[in-house]
Amino acid sequence: MSAQIIFGKQISDSIREELRMEADRLKAEGVTPGLVVIIVGEDPASQVYVRNKAKACEDLGYYSEVVRLPADTTQEALLALIGEYNGNGAVHGILVQLPLPKHIEEKAIIDAIAVEKDVDGFHPESVGNLMIGDDALLPCTPSGVIELLKRTGNSPAGKHAVVIGRSNIVGKPVAMLLLRENATVTICHSRTPNIEEMARQADILVVGVGVPKLVKKEWVKPGAVVIDVGVNRLPDGKLCGDVDYDDVVETAGWITPVPGGVGPMTITMLMANTLTSAKRSKK
Ligand code: GUN
Repeated sequence: MSAQIIFGKQISDSIREELRMEADRLKAEGVTPGLVVIIVGEDPASQVYVRNKAKACEDLGYYSEVVRLPADTTQEALLALIGEYNGNGAVHGILVQLPLPKHIEEKAIIDAIAVEKDVDGFHPESVGNLMIGDDALLPCTPSGVIELLKRTGNSPAGKHAVVIGRSNIVGKPVAMLLLRENATVTICHSRTPNIEEMARQADILVVGVGVPKLVKKEWVKPGAVVIDVGVNRLPDGKLCGDVDYDDVVETAGWITPVPGGVGPMTITMLMANTLTSAKRSKK
């Protein structure tokens, strides 16, 4: 039997509907959620992401600013700008689009964002809060993965989740969130022997490594939930994930397509974080 497809766009749309209603309530109480997105340089993919983030703000009735800076902006100038937004009461979330030009140290920039406005969830204190189970703003793609699981009735509790990939942006935080949701979690990576065998143990398989079509049907336990976080561009210009979708779709119980699976959730969770931060600013 063919897997049930997890349509991230539909789930994302219904979450955005909830966010819009909550934002309206908050606005009636005098607080408009606000997000600033800062982009340095002309990277075309980043330009698209930034436009989509601003558009999502507009659609939900948030206050939105986009600051476009030239590629030769100094680290000091960027730090000074972040300092200004840290103190700006109309802005509840600060996102600096990555990657940054080589002469700017990403870590210094992330560290400078006030933790309560860290809507990317990349600040070391946010990461630490996630680890110890405190009230952190959660990184957007990983929290989107958890929402997809919960909203399709695939609660991680008591399941064996196998995460392939150990990046700071996907693998590690997704593993931590699955653990928090009471899954038993295994993390695999490029140095894991018998990775295929490990993957086949999974009730929930989450893949984020950036290798096109790495995961084949032999890696998947029949009926497993397969969440593909990879986005790769093939030589013919088409997008594909880290999972060989056509190969796996007959074996998995549930599967996310690429595009249209995890992708649409990332900006939605950014909007959710901005709203959370705005609500907290009221207290
Ligand atoms: N570049 C690509 N994805 C992201 C993201 O989620 N956050 C930031 N800040 N930059 C990105």
